[in-house]
Parts: sequence; structure tokens; C-alpha cells
Amino acid sequence: MAHFPPSFLDEVLARTDIVELIGRHVQLKKSGSNYMGLCPFHHEKTPSFSVSADKQLYYCFGCGKGGGAFQFLMEHDGYSFPEAVEYLAGKVGLEIPREAAEKPGEEARRRQGLALLDRAARAFEQALGAPEGQPARDYFRQRGLDARIIRDWRLGFAPPGYGFMQRVFGGDGRTLAQLEAVGLMFRGERGYADRFRGRVMFPIRDRRGQVVGFGGRLMGPGEPKYLNSPETPWFHKASLLYGLFEHRDEIRKRKQLLVVEGYMDVLACNAHGLPVAVAPLGTAIGERQIREILRLHPEPVFCFDGDRAGRQAAWRALERMLPVLAAEHGPRFLYLPEGEDPDSLLAREGAEAFARRMEEQARPVLETWLAGLANLAGRGPEGRARMAKKADTMLAAMGDDYLRQVWRQEAERATGVRLRAGGGAAPAPATAPGPVAAAAPGRAMEEQFLAALVFRPERFARLPEGGREILLDDPMLHRLYTRALELAGSWAGSRAAADAGLAAALEVEFPQADVLPRLANEQDVSDEDFADLLLAMEARSIERRLRQGGLSLPEQMRLKRRHQEIQQQRRRG
Ligand code: UTP
Ligand code: MN
Repeated sequence: MAHFPPSFLDEVLARTDIVELIGRHVQLKKSGSNYMGLCPFHHEKTPSFSVSADKQLYYCFGCGKGGGAFQFLMEHDGYSFPEAVEYLAGKVGLEIPREAAEKPGEEARRRQGLALLDRAARAFEQALGAPEGQPARDYFRQRGLDARIIRDWRLGFAPPGYGFMQRVFGGDGRTLAQLEAVGLMFRGERGYADRFRGRVMFPIRDRRGQVVGFGGRLMGPGEPKYLNSPETPWFHKASLLYGLFEHRDEIRKRKQLLVVEGYMDVLACNAHGLPVAVAPLGTAIGERQIREILRLHPEPVFCFDGDRAGRQAAWRALERMLPVLAAEHGPRFLYLPEGEDPDSLLAREGAEAFARRMEEQARPVLETWLAGLANLAGRGPEGRARMAKKADTMLAAMGDDYLRQVWRQEAERATGVRLRAGGGAAPAPATAPGPVAAAAPGRAMEEQFLAALVFRPERFARLPEGGREILLDDPMLHRLYTRALELAGSWAGSRAAADAGLAAALEVEFPQADVLPRLANEQDVSDEDFADLLLAMEARSIERRLRQGGLSLPEQMRLKRRHQEIQQQRRRG
């Protein structure tokens, strides 16, 4: 990863207005010293998403997501850290320092690949517009995709035969190897060869809108009908959705999301005034994609073909959904008439009838589940036993205890079969301590202490000797504390670390520390209170070390004396 000097990150953040940055995506209203809005990371009806202009941080009281400007771009728009830094630096008119910009490696390679993919997309677009693209243009027209869609979705054409890539990129060995790495060429017996030949091209963009892969369709009969980019470091099928980048804003605006099966379905929806569809990339939909879908809109409609294969696909999607599903989600399943997909239905019955179909025929996920169970149970006693077993397994896979309880009751009532009472999932994995743990007095104090330092880094310079030895009970808080001490020390000579600078640096180094955003919401502690807090922390830390034992006698004596001093000082203060 590129390394940016802390002073540079500081400067970028100092010039960035997080309220403006987030305000472009979230409607914010001033409330006290903060701004509040509807959280873009989870679905809610009343605002619990706060943005602090003073601290330049955001935090959602509902889902716990939070961070600074860099974090927002990473979480919301899918930027990598260096990309977020570059983006904001560019926005505020700062140049990336040489040392960071010229660091070769991972990031540079990633960027080169993206540049190549983009150039290839442009070449396919140009080929579509060229005389040789006539058949492809006819094909798109015949499928109802007009010039606007071709432009917006960057549709293209890969001419038949070998050699197109070399005509575009030249024959340099390194370039060819890169083209292979990004999935545009493969190495055959006679050297590098074009992967996509004689196909109409659908570029696939990531959450940021960067082309990361392609789907290519034959215009006539033949196999395979669709050819997709292979899995590459740029192209991860399991975490991409076709249409997500293009439709994300409309989905949020219209509060409507349609999950369909293919590229053409997504485009047909767009063409018919339903710019709210997304599709997996030729693979069955997976947990990560479902998570993303539910986060974008909690009540998506999943479309399936009404045939046997379609029902199986629906069941698979339902199974994948279980770990993610929570009470606030209301996904629905829509079975289309056999042999139809949204593309063909829209062409046949039009947008209005299709929208009505969605409204009237989409069934809630629970109902879909019960129908599946009934289907299993309908085959005699063995069927009922198999159904019960399957139901138990599926209940155990659920991530939400309340939902599980309700689903079990419903299944028992619907099938008349008693299910296992437990059915519970494995004990909840040890996650980072949430707000409940934070309520523990010791921990709350530690968080307050850390917040009082991180957001007023000048206090680090005034820490007494004893302060530097403070142990925090919580391992993550302790790591943050020692690292903050180091950073504050190393910046002392340079430009004063701006408030958000230290927090941002920690945030970058400890992306897994979900406590940081919470710290931002701690009440500001006055210098006087901080002095007392410091003493209390030191006392606690001494008690802990004495408990742990293994100290020399003189050391024990020193600590005990210091402990007494602290107690006296606190009583006086
Ligand atoms: P379908 O065969 O249902 O195609 O595959 P479709 O979307 O209706 O496309 P048209 O209408 O025939 O053009 C659905 C999805 O499965 C993937 C593609 O992502 C396609 O959009 N697929 C299909 C492949 O990856 N390879 C194939 O050979 C076929
Ligand atoms: Mn189709």
C-alpha cells in the first residue's frame, strides 16, 4: 500500500469538509453541534446517522458504522484507502507527495490493470460504432437497446477473429501479459490470444464505476452464449452485481430493488423505466451479494423463472440469505411464468403490467420458505421427516434469534411437525464489543480516556511519566492507546497533528477497530476532568499490575506508594 506521510493526510483532512462530502449523498439537517440524516449504510425511517463538523467524523447510532472522510469513501463508494486519499487530495487541490506516488507495487499494478480494462472498454465501444460494428448495432436495436443505453452502459463489440487486442494495444510483451492478467487475453499454443471474439460486450463496473470485467454475448446460436471474464484480482464475481453502480442512486431514491438473473434483464428494466435492477454475473447469488442488496434496500424483489430450475434457484437464494436476514428485512420472491424472464415479459406486456406483477405476485420470504417446506413434506412420513430435518438445518443457519423463533413457530403450525426446540445457531461468534460491553464502567472509562486524548492530541505531550505506562484492560483499546502515543510522539516536532489527523491515522491502521467511531461521540472532556480521569486510569492500571504479580519488591513498593499518592490527590481534587 502506498505510504502517505501523516502530515499530508492531515492536510487533506484539514481541507476537506466532511459535511459537504457526505451531504452529497445524504440529506443532512443541523441538530445541535452535529448534523443528522438517514443512514446510507442501513435502512431506517428515522435519522440516526450523525456527522460531526468539529470532529470531521460520522457515526450511525443504528448500525454502528462510522469513521472519517476516507472511511466514508471506502465504505460508501468502495474506494481503496489510496484511492480515497487521491480523490480527496485532488478535490482540495493537493499533490500526492512524490514518495507516496512513486511507490511501485500492489497499488500501481491495480491501477495499471484498471487503466487497461478501461481502454479495452473504449476500444469495444469504438468497434461498435465502426463499420465492422453494424451487425452488433443491429443486434442491440433488435433487442430494444437504444443509443442512450449503449452510451450509458458502455456497450461494445469485440470483432470476430484474433488480433483485436494487439491492434489496440500493440505487441509489447509486458502489455500482453497484463492483458492476460486482467482476463482479456489467454495464452494458447501459439501465444497470446483474444478471449472475446465476435461478441457484443457488456462491461462490468465495480461500485466506483470502474470497468473490472466483461460479459460477452454471441449474436447468434453457439456456445457459450455468454462468456464472462475469468476471476482475476480485479474481477471478483461473488462480490459484484451488474447494475449496482448504474442503478444504485435510483434504487435509493425509488426505494425499489429488483434482483434478476441476467445482463439483458437489467438493461431491459432500465429501458422500460425501471432503473432499479441488479443481477449476479452468471453465478448463483451469494451471501456477499445478498448482504449488499439488503443494505441498499431492505425489501428487494427476487425474480425467478417459474419452472423447476427457477424454484430450485429461489430455494438456493433463500438458503444463502438466512445468515444475513434480520427482522427489518422484507425480501420477496417473484415467480415469473414458465420460460419468461423480465426482459421477455417487459417486451410482451410492458412496464406497467410488469410493475403490477411485482406488487401483486411477489411473496414474502417466509411464505416462500413455508411453501418449500410443504413441498418437501408432501411426500409421506419420510418426506415429513426430511422436511423437519431441513427446516432445523435452515433455522440453525439463521443469524437472527428473533426471526428464527418466529420462523420455527410458523413452520410448526404450517406443517404440524414439531421442530427441535434448540435449533439455535452456534454461540454467537466473539465479535468486537458492542454498545452493551461499552456500558461496563471500566470500559466506558477507558473509552472516555482514549477519546479525550485522540481528539485532543496535544494532551499526549503533557502526559506524566505514569501516563505512558497505563495499561488498558481492553486489548484493542490498549493497542490503540500505545499506537496513539507513538504517533503523537513522532508528530510532535512536525506540523501539529490536527484533531482528526490522529483519529484518521488510527482508523487507517486499525480498520477493524469499530470502537474508533464511537470514541468520536464521547463528550468532550475538560482539562480539569481529564486530569482526574488520568489519575483514575493510572490507579486502575497500577491495581491491575499488582494483581498480575511477577514484580520485584522495590517495584511493588513504588507502585503502592504511587497508588496512595493518587488516591490522596483525587480526594483533594
Ligand atoms: P440466460 O441464458 O437466462 O440468458 O442466462 P438471458 O439473460 O436471458 O440472456 P438472453 O436474453 O438470452 O440474451 C442468464 C445469465 O446467466 C449467465 C449470464 O450472466 C446471463 O445473463 N450466462 C448464461 C452465462 O454466464 N453463460 C451462458 O452461457 C449463459
Ligand atoms: Mn433473456
